[in-house]
Amino acid sequence: MNVSEVFDGLSCISLSTLSLALRRPSELRIYISHCLRKYDELVGNGLPCRAPVTPAQNLTITIPAYHAGGGMSFNELVILARVTKILKPKNIFEVGSYSGLTTAVFELNSDPDARIVTLDLPPGAETSQTPIASDKELVASRHLALVPQALGLCRYTQLLCDSMDFDPLPYLDCVDLGLIDGAHDVAHVQNDTLKMAKMMSDRGIVFWHDYGGKGKFKPLASYLENLAKRCLLYRIPGTSLAWAPAQELKSSILETRS
Ligand SMILES: C[S@@+](CC[C@H](N)C(=O)[O-])C[C@H]1O[C@@H](n2cnc3c(N)ncnc32)[C@H](O)[C@@H]1O
Repeated sequence: MNVSEVFDGLSCISLSTLSLALRRPSELRIYISHCLRKYDELVGNGLPCRAPVTPAQNLTITIPAYHAGGGMSFNELVILARVTKILKPKNIFEVGSYSGLTTAVFELNSDPDARIVTLDLPPGAETSQTPIASDKELVASRHLALVPQALGLCRYTQLLCDSMDFDPLPYLDCVDLGLIDGAHDVAHVQNDTLKMAKMMSDRGIVFWHDYGGKGKFKPLASYLENLAKRCLLYRIPGTSLAWAPAQELKSSILETRS
């Protein structure tokens, strides 16, 4: 635990925090992280809150009932499903497949001619260069295609490549819905964001997972909040999803680098 994590923990000390520390110490980190994220949302720290789409009253979505892990909550899956239904993306690109739960949500809610591409590390990449312990655990416990196979879904392409080595050239300017949920350290998130920006179409929307966390996830939040000084970026209340309309993201990121 580093100094900033200790301060974050101290900032939400209450009788219930102390009681949980005694009764269920292993759950303390999750509880504190949840409280701090909610606090930031309520007082307006960090990215502004905004929903990416407003569903019509008669809209229906499809979500796999079985949750295969990977960190995305059902609430977050509902948001991704709604966006897929409403945006009607022709091309969807995801960094971080894990067991294919989000891939399945994209397939179940997109039009039959939509192209879905999901990227994960090749087999045997368990020693990948990520400094975050929970990322290493996810790499080791992933079971690629578990969910799509169980549901009989096959309308997607699985790429096996480290996102650091991935070449976005074949996908330039054509992705309408992007999800960045691979390794969560800043070097990877920055790399994945730059490549996603290159691949996005002007009408697209990009999502990042795990925004708003503390400790090891704080640099990810700081990276996105810095990016928000140059283009529109939002958080979705009650979730750890952040999102941006692609057009401005593309111009701000790609112009800065040229
Ligand atoms: C949080 S999980 C993705 C969960 C998935 N989006 C879902 O909710 O169903 C992160 C995934 O990113 C993959 N990953 C980690 N580092 C990566 C890298 N450098 N390149 C590509 N994938 C990576 C891991 O193997 C893991 O499967």
